[in-house]
Amino acid sequence: MHHDTLGSGRLGESAAGVYSYMDIVAKEAEEYALAHTSPLSPLLEEVEAFTLTKTAYPSMLTGRVEGRFLQLVVQLSGARQVVEIGTFTGYSALAMGEVLPEKGRILTIENNPDHAKIAREFFTRSSSRSKITLRLGEAREILKSLPDAETDLVFIDADKQNYTAYYRESMRILRNNGLILADNALWYGRIFDPQDEESRAMADFNELVNADKQAEKLFLTIRDGIYVIRKRGDVAG
Ligand SMILES: C[S@@+](CC[C@H](N)C(=O)[O-])C[C@H]1O[C@@H](n2cnc3c(N)ncnc32)[C@H](O)[C@@H]1O
Repeated sequence: MHHDTLGSGRLGESAAGVYSYMDIVAKEAEEYALAHTSPLSPLLEEVEAFTLTKTAYPSMLTGRVEGRFLQLVVQLSGARQVVEIGTFTGYSALAMGEVLPEKGRILTIENNPDHAKIAREFFTRSSSRSKITLRLGEAREILKSLPDAETDLVFIDADKQNYTAYYRESMRILRNNGLILADNALWYGRIFDPQDEESRAMADFNELVNADKQAEKLFLTIRDGIYVIRKRGDVAG
């Protein structure tokens, strides 16, 4: 929510015509990665262009590289039931929805009615619309209403103060071997020396995950950091 207010971020056109807002990975590396990653669907390109030009928080968009990564994880894991925390303009939900099998479903949660309205308009235009459900409301409340151990993949990408709560609920709703992808795990590098509430929350989240024996983890330095977590079935929660 506060990405646009972060002084160290930068927003600019890259060689690939896509913005970069992260300082944590060298600009040249970001641009090179973009230029060497397949574009997503025309609708996703449109969502991206809309988000960059018409919204106040363009840096909240995951974008092409992370979008492709999410798609690959969905495809390789064979996920059928996906939960996303933080819809924004619908980019990542659409990206995952496009590669889910016909019977696959994604529930995406958003508490901002303006964001939800934009996302719903894009979802309506997608051939994957029947796979995507948006629920408007507080993510913590909506997560509580979901059953134990029926979800294959959770993408956490909302307010940073609640990441720890989202993690606990995600581990509950995930089946064994299910995956969590937590975005912004590097939080612009502020986790190294947290000076504010959000940065402390992200640092605490990373430590909680790292200490959790039920979690097998891989910390990726893609973009603003993606913490990849597999719920181990051989360790009690
Ligand atoms: C970083 S953006 C999500 C970006 C999106 N996943 C994408 O790739 O385009 C975070 C979103 O989470 C929403 N959000 C923040 N706090 C929330 C909460 N407590 N419950 C539900 N949604 C929340 C914000 O309104 C915002 O739209």
